[in-house]
Amino acid sequence: MASWHIGVIGGSGLAEGIGLEDAQEIAVSSPFGEPSGPVTIGRIGKVRFTFLARHGAGHRLSPSAINYRANIDVMKRCGVTDLVALSAIGSLREELAPGQFVAVDQLIDRTSGRAHSFFGQGLVAHVSLADPVCPRLSALVAEAARKAGGTVHDKGCYIAIEGPQFSTRAESQMYRTWGADVIGMTAMPEARLSREAELPYALLGMVTDYDCWREAEKGVEAAEVFAVMKANAARARDAVKRLAKALPETREPSPIDTALDHAIVTAPAARD
Ligand code: ADE
Repeated sequence: MASWHIGVIGGSGLAEGIGLEDAQEIAVSSPFGEPSGPVTIGRIGKVRFTFLARHGAGHRLSPSAINYRANIDVMKRCGVTDLVALSAIGSLREELAPGQFVAVDQLIDRTSGRAHSFFGQGLVAHVSLADPVCPRLSALVAEAARKAGGTVHDKGCYIAIEGPQFSTRAESQMYRTWGADVIGMTAMPEARLSREAELPYALLGMVTDYDCWREAEKGVEAAEVFAVMKANAARARDAVKRLAKALPETREPSPIDTALDHAIVTAPAARD
C-alpha cells in the first residue's frame, strides 16, 4: 500500500513547533553539495514528514545562495513522495491582502545564475513544466490552510525574482502587466527541480506585503515581511497538521511520479 511522505520546505523553526512524533534531525549529504541544513523527519499520525528550513538555521542563506539542487535531492533521498513549499510572497493584486494565503498554480522565472537542472552533460532531459504545480497536492494544502482559519486564494501566478533586493516600482508594475499575481525569490528553481525529481510540488504562499506597485505605498521593508510571517506562523503549522489528517489513507500514483518517462532524450547507449 503506497503511503504519503510529505516534504516541507519552509521557514526556520517550522518543524520545531509542529509536535512531530519520533522526530529526528539528520544531516543528509548530496552529490550536489550542501543542502540548507539538516532535515527533521518524523510523523504526524500515520503520515511521514521531512522538514527543511530553506534559508538554513538562523536565516543565513540569501535566495541566491540556497543550493536548490541539494535541497530537492535530499528530499528525494529521504523518500519524500510530495513536496509542499511554504513561502513569504508580495502581492501584486489589491484583492490578495497581507495575512492571506495563495495556492500558487503558475510561475514565471526571472531568476538568473542559479543551477536550475539536474540534467546537462551526459544526460539530457526535457520535462514538461506547463503545469508546474500538482493540482491534487495544491488543493489538499489549500483546504488545510482554510481549515486552519486562513483566507486562501486557489490560484495565482508567482513571479520569482533573483533578489535579494525587492523590485523597483517600474518592475513591480511591469510584472502586473505580465499576469503575475504574487512575487517572491525562492520558488524557482525549486519547482523546476521538483518536477525533474518527479516530486509533485505545491506552493502555499503567505502574503506579507503589497510590494511597491501602489503609488501611495512606501517600498517593502524586510522587517514588515518578517512581522507578518511571524504573526502567521502558528496558522502555517496548523495547516501542515491538518494536511496530515486530511490525506487519503492510500496515496494513489500521480502522473508527476513518472515525469521523466518521456523526458530523457539521450540515447541509452550514450548514457554513462
Ligand atoms: N517576499 C515577500 N515579499 C516579497 C516581495 N515584495 N518581493 C519579493 N519577495 C518577497
